[in-house]
Amino acid sequence: MRLGVNIDHIATIREARKAREPEPVAAALMAELAGAQGITVHLRGDRRHIKERDVELLRQVVATKLNIEMAATSEMTAIASRIRPDQVTLVPEQPHELTTQGGLDVVANRKAVAGAVKKLRAAGVLVSIFIDPDLAQVAASRGVGAGAIEINTGGYSDASAADRPARLDAVRRAAAEAASQGLEVLAGHGLTYVNVRPIVATPEIVELNIGHSIIARAALVGLERAVREMVALLEPR
Ligand code: PXP
Repeated sequence: MRLGVNIDHIATIREARKAREPEPVAAALMAELAGAQGITVHLRGDRRHIKERDVELLRQVVATKLNIEMAATSEMTAIASRIRPDQVTLVPEQPHELTTQGGLDVVANRKAVAGAVKKLRAAGVLVSIFIDPDLAQVAASRGVGAGAIEINTGGYSDASAADRPARLDAVRRAAAEAASQGLEVLAGHGLTYVNVRPIVATPEIVELNIGHSIIARAALVGLERAVREMVALLEPR
């Protein structure tokens, strides 16, 4: 199972102060050094965290796989065609959402999504579509020419204990159907150190994109060292 680390939150911390640090490029390289097989960033329409400058630099330094999540707009497909990440993941985007809400409705937006897929493939970019675990969305994703899907695990992650088996089953059925149609199967959203194992045990899923939980843990496991280093600097010389 490959791990793609979503480093958007590193840019969110930087933008909290409009400062230079923390640098997303440094985070990407550290994640790669630690064994991540991919780096994911979401270039949002409002550029609230990741900027074009970041994706330009990441394109130059990421040696594994650079995956850019974006809306299926002409602005975004033009940027991706210029920067040429290894993969684009098409996602729905609402201006005021805290994070991506649900998968892209490919069934309802077939024409616009097909147009974006065509442009991206012509630029040599692999296209994945972030969809809910729904068989009609799987078929529509294949129909518009995507090479991969990322199954939204948000429903599974947020489910109550009683509801979780059914949510996991939906993810597994969508994964099996997508693989049988020749699509590469990725998954992500809301995965944590606690809930990831049943998803890992789904044989058709080859890659997970995980962000919040990894960056949240990094803030805590790194805090002690960061404080110690500042305490040392405050010692009398
Ligand atoms: N996949 C997609 C399409 C996303 O939009 C996100 C969140 O940016 C993720 C995966 C990662 O989700 P999380 O940050 O909850 O791990």
